[in-house]
Amino acid sequence: MNFLQKWPEPVVPVQHLSDSGIRVIPGRYVKKPSERPSSVDSAEPDINIPVIDLQELYSDDHLLRRRTASLIDSACREWGFFQVVNHGVSHELMARTREAWREFFHLPMAEKKKYANSPSTYEGYGSRLGVEKGISLDWNDYFFLHYLPVAIRDRNKWPALPVSCRELIEKYSEEVVNLGEKLMKILSVNLGLRENYLSEAFGGDDNGACLRVNYYPKCPQPDLTLGISSHSDPGGMTLLNPDENVSGLQVRHGAIWLTVNPLPNAFIINIGNKVAVVSNGKYKSVEHRVIVNSEKERVSLAFFYNPRGEMPIKPAEELVSEEHPALYPCMTFDEYRLYFRTRGPSGKIQVESLKSHP
Ligand code: OGA
Ligand code: NI
Repeated sequence: MNFLQKWPEPVVPVQHLSDSGIRVIPGRYVKKPSERPSSVDSAEPDINIPVIDLQELYSDDHLLRRRTASLIDSACREWGFFQVVNHGVSHELMARTREAWREFFHLPMAEKKKYANSPSTYEGYGSRLGVEKGISLDWNDYFFLHYLPVAIRDRNKWPALPVSCRELIEKYSEEVVNLGEKLMKILSVNLGLRENYLSEAFGGDDNGACLRVNYYPKCPQPDLTLGISSHSDPGGMTLLNPDENVSGLQVRHGAIWLTVNPLPNAFIINIGNKVAVVSNGKYKSVEHRVIVNSEKERVSLAFFYNPRGEMPIKPAEELVSEEHPALYPCMTFDEYRLYFRTRGPSGKIQVESLKSHP
């Protein structure tokens, strides 16, 4: 795909803009009034995404395990988002990996630019999503890397500094994949499918897993822009390790945006478009976005559990009937992801525009 080989214009790291001390953000970052953070009142302190304690999943008692699984099922149907505690991933590893990445983003620009990415694979250090010239930009720099399948894992593309970084990425990813696989089994059974259904539909041992580390620098005019525009995640499931001290993630709930209050040591889990497709719409892949602020930077690690690129993904036959016709056509993840990568984040359009029309 030739047109995806290069960015259409020079890429300016947002961190560079933030550090330059500007008081007014460039027009490319200014969102339409209807998209700005203040556009919809998000002050709803009493409702928020469910918090689920996974401790009982490790119990020998079948009933206790079922009880937790059913809380997960409701969260996937009603919210598409939930936080998990007692999830089995080392808290220390979560914090150390996050702080190693913060250190990476604090390295001199010349060091980070060694990993500058291109739109052909997006791997490396980048500041934009979408290749259309003049596209609206988000207040975010990121690092994107592949962990699975093993055949495309390349440690040399991961940061060499800080020195602990590569080892931490490997250990962290291993534990997060374990949690992801555990959740995929629970989701499969909750949907009435066999335990390994989602994992096999995504390519079995060859499924994809990648890490996007987001860095949101301080912003002099946070009311005018977004750290990430409204989108739903294209893959299977996302496991987010958020900055504990700074909130920023907002989840759409009906007409309002709820700001998620991250609990210490918790992961924020959300259903991606491809699980929504396999579930034939039973599970929701919900729009979310990120707001920024003028006081504090924010770092978050989004781990995406995805289908293998060439895997055709379609609604599970068990979930399709005359009463519930297939809502989505069959499509490979590669074909699908191209939408995102060409056009940038743009609400639910990627999944909704692909819905089959009877
Ligand atoms: C993402 C994302 C949320 C966050 O990377 O897809 O939605 O809080 N990140 O950084
Ligand atoms: Ni997302």
